[in-house]
Amino acid sequence: MSKEGRPDLPVTIVVAYARGGVIGGDNRLLWRLRTDLKRFRSLTVGKPMVMGRKTFQSIGKPLPGRETVVVTRDPAFFAEGVHVARNVDEALGKASKLAAAMGAGEIVVAGGAEIYAQTLAMADAIRATEVHADIAGDAFFPPVDRAAFAETAREEHPAGPDDEHAFAFVDYVRRA
Ligand SMILES: NC(=O)c1ccc[n+]([C@@H]2O[C@H](COP(=O)([O-])OP(=O)(O)OC[C@H]3O[C@@H](n4cnc5c(N)ncnc54)[C@H](OP(=O)(O)O)[C@@H]3O)[C@@H](O)[C@H]2O)c1
Repeated sequence: MSKEGRPDLPVTIVVAYARGGVIGGDNRLLWRLRTDLKRFRSLTVGKPMVMGRKTFQSIGKPLPGRETVVVTRDPAFFAEGVHVARNVDEALGKASKLAAAMGAGEIVVAGGAEIYAQTLAMADAIRATEVHADIAGDAFFPPVDRAAFAETAREEHPAGPDDEHAFAFVDYVRRA
């Protein structure tokens, strides 16, 4: 961590949201998009990922090829194969050290809503999957200050046998 309490490495948020910012409901994802799962894998393998305890429990296990830092206030929390942090700063600090050990150039923030809300202000980039669908949920990506981020890439994908909705992969990078 730097003296200002910011991690020394870039922080990249990876998120999929439907219209209105819906990211999940009943502590699970609300769509089946295999192409997005593949992208999530390629964006996260070889990197440390910070996630909230609920998202971790929704996934159910540490994802292979990545180091997972779970943020929780529960001092009794334990899960095999993950790192635990008591707050977001501690999580980013642990992720920085893990990144150095792994040779990774960035820290990934993988959600959910509470963790996105607490890290958006320090995010250098957002790798978003914008799902072109109206889906009812109970977890939301926080509103993004569009003036603070530049859209640097957009790739549209139609719905298909592997993907139940059309969607776009969109990269946003914080303006200098
Ligand atoms: N679409 C996507 O890209 C995406 C990605 C990730 C998740 N999701 C969805 O998002 C939903 C989960 O989001 P969520 O907001 O409910 O939960 P979350 O952010 O995954 O986890 C919340 C938990 O994190 C811990 N926490 C949060 N802030 C903390 C802090 N400052 N210090 C210490 N611990 C802290 C607390 O754990 P304790 O209660 O243990 O203290 C809290 O209950 C699910 O529906 C999931 O499927 C979607």
